[in-house]
Amino acid sequence: MLTIENLSVRYGETEALNDFSLNIRKGNIYSLIGPSGCGKSTLLKVLCGIIKSFEGKISFNDKPFNPNDIKIGYVPQQYGLLDWKTVKENIYLPFKLDKDKEVIEKEIKEVIKSLEIDDLQNRYPSQLSGGQNQRVALARAFISRPDILLMDEPFSSLDTFTSAISQRLFLSLWQKYKVTTLFITHNIHEAVSIGEHIIIMSKAPGKIIHEIENPLFNVEEYEEDKLKFVASIIQKTGYR
Ligand SMILES: Nc1ncnc2c1ncn2[C@@H]1O[C@H](COP(=O)(O)OP(=O)(O)OP(=O)(O)O)[C@@H](O)[C@H]1O
Ligand SMILES: [Mg+2]
Repeated sequence: MLTIENLSVRYGETEALNDFSLNIRKGNIYSLIGPSGCGKSTLLKVLCGIIKSFEGKISFNDKPFNPNDIKIGYVPQQYGLLDWKTVKENIYLPFKLDKDKEVIEKEIKEVIKSLEIDDLQNRYPSQLSGGQNQRVALARAFISRPDILLMDEPFSSLDTFTSAISQRLFLSLWQKYKVTTLFITHNIHEAVSIGEHIIIMSKAPGKIIHEIENPLFNVEEYEEDKLKFVASIIQKTGYR
């Protein structure tokens, strides 16, 4: 569905991505892991249209990719909520409510409920905890029914407990909508918990060094198997 071929991106002298190629299939979740500075956020910025200058070819359903032609849900590294708008206003931001108002309202309420943020709707982002901000950002991204959901280390600033809860809420919502997702993390445990496919990037400038199918995707808590699998990935990365 989304094909990235030989993508290279530079910021002046700095080479952020080098010859990066990836094929993203519809309805699948990809976890992308790589060390700090290897170009993960740069990749998402290219895909959501913030960075327009790059080499290589990107296509969507076999046509040249134009971020303005498709619906993209983007959860940036720092939530991306508007501080001067309430939780409710932030969540409704992607919508023109004149169209299918009732259907949309019903769906929005369901997402808000499943992410457990019903009671926070009249607060402002500054009045929320990190995990709550995160869930509001996820709600907004899901509700816009994106063709592709791009998430940049969404759980990284959360404590282990809150992160685990947020990941579970995300996955239960994903089961319902099956949104094509590219999930970025530098945490291998998170990559294994979320990703159907695990893509491992090299140090900067980033390119893919391994692509692994996750045998534990959607398998209920086999903690020991998960730890063994995480260990095998750590060995593969060769990160020091
Ligand atoms: N606006 C910019 N101007 C110049 N260099 C930049 C800019 N943004 C990123 N870089 C550089 O490009 C490289 C890739 O950055 P990027 O933010 O994509 O890394 P990352 O993999 O997301 O890292 P992290 O895990 O720390 O978030 C880094 O060397 C970074 O310093
Ligand atoms: Mg980043």
